[in-house]
Amino acid sequence: MRDKSTASDAAGGKGGDGSGGGDSAAGVDATVGGAFFRRAFCLDGRVAVVTGASSGLGAHMAATLARAGCKVALAARRAARLEAVAESIAEVIADATDTGTVANTNASANTNTVANAGTVANANTVANTNAGTNTGANATDTGAAADTGTVAGTGTGTTTAVESNSRLLTVTMDVRERDAVEAAFARIDAHFGRVDILVNNAGVAAPRRFLDMSEAEWQGVVDTDLSAVWRVGQAAARRMVAQDSGGAIINIASMLGVGVQRGQANYGAAKAGVIQLTRSMALELARHGVRVNALAPGYFATEMNREFLESARGREYVAGLLPGRAGRLHELDGALLLLASDAGGYINGSVLSVDGGALLGGL
Ligand SMILES: NC(=O)c1ccc[n+]([C@@H]2O[C@H](COP(=O)([O-])OP(=O)(O)OC[C@H]3O[C@@H](n4cnc5c(N)ncnc54)[C@H](OP(=O)(O)O)[C@@H]3O)[C@@H](O)[C@H]2O)c1
Repeated sequence: MRDKSTASDAAGGKGGDGSGGGDSAAGVDATVGGAFFRRAFCLDGRVAVVTGASSGLGAHMAATLARAGCKVALAARRAARLEAVAESIAEVIADATDTGTVANTNASANTNTVANAGTVANANTVANTNAGTNTGANATDTGAAADTGTVAGTGTGTTTAVESNSRLLTVTMDVRERDAVEAAFARIDAHFGRVDILVNNAGVAAPRRFLDMSEAEWQGVVDTDLSAVWRVGQAAARRMVAQDSGGAIINIASMLGVGVQRGQANYGAAKAGVIQLTRSMALELARHGVRVNALAPGYFATEMNREFLESARGREYVAGLLPGRAGRLHELDGALLLLASDAGGYINGSVLSVDGGALLGGL
């Protein structure tokens, strides 16, 4: 059983190392600096599983975690799409000019810039609007593209960027099927040997007014958007508990799990369920050092809603929301990395909204 106050310290002891962050009598710890903060967000070597990684938010978040140092298993049903996304991510991390190690504490001596320009399939940009500045002195390039292992089961005779990068794995997984989930995790076990982070992201929508909604429209959304979060979450959490090294689970909810919208009874009920499931998981898994939080996005243009958002009605609707625009995928990154890393070590059972304040309304 783990100390209830600690979060994950998985994959090579990336947790607190005593070099910063302690309390002082004056309330100010002089050892806390840029390197400390980058260490807190560091995900080097951790193994992340992202469901629904073949498009949209999942593809983007898989890329973000990979760029943050994770080994990433990308899961979804469309194998070819997964391969295309993974290929793009492999190119991005291979092209990274600087992976920003945290070995040095002089925060002012250097301004290396991470300038990635890769895109994932279907025009979803892989975080390339983040021209992050590395302020650590003498930051060493840790060679994100240096891994040369092969991806189990995907060899085709020619070596792709993905195959030559053991940090990425694609697995087909229908989250509605227990056997498919277990088979996919068995492949992840074989390739990476552990699971430290799960992003429970796969989801569908089937908008229909309440009076007209069919059994299939209700059940299909609830199966994918709620039951599968339990199913995949259980598979990942069992591994994290067995590893006895903690972990972080991020369930992708929605602002529609809190606010209400016409035509979304199935989706809204499922996402509200995800939020309460998140709290239950957090309550029961805390003793094992596994943190479980929900991330609740507002509108982001993806396959799920692009047609609506680009319609005249959609544009008018979004313009009327408090932020006045849809989110940009890179605007999910801060919340994702906070919940996934030790920087969020004391955040558990929470719902983090990334919606530009869309639900605030106003008088
Ligand atoms: N976009 C938004 O504005 C927004 C807002 C709030 C919340 N969200 C949530 O964010 C998550 C991602 O949505 P998105 O907008 O990125 O939509 P998207 O582009 O349509 O992506 C959905 C992903 O889920 C996967 N998926 C669907 N059913 C699956 C199944 N049975 N098994 C495995 N994977 C499945 C899809 O992959 P395959 O088809 O290849 O299986 C795809 O990768 C969803 O949970 C959604 O509810 C989105």
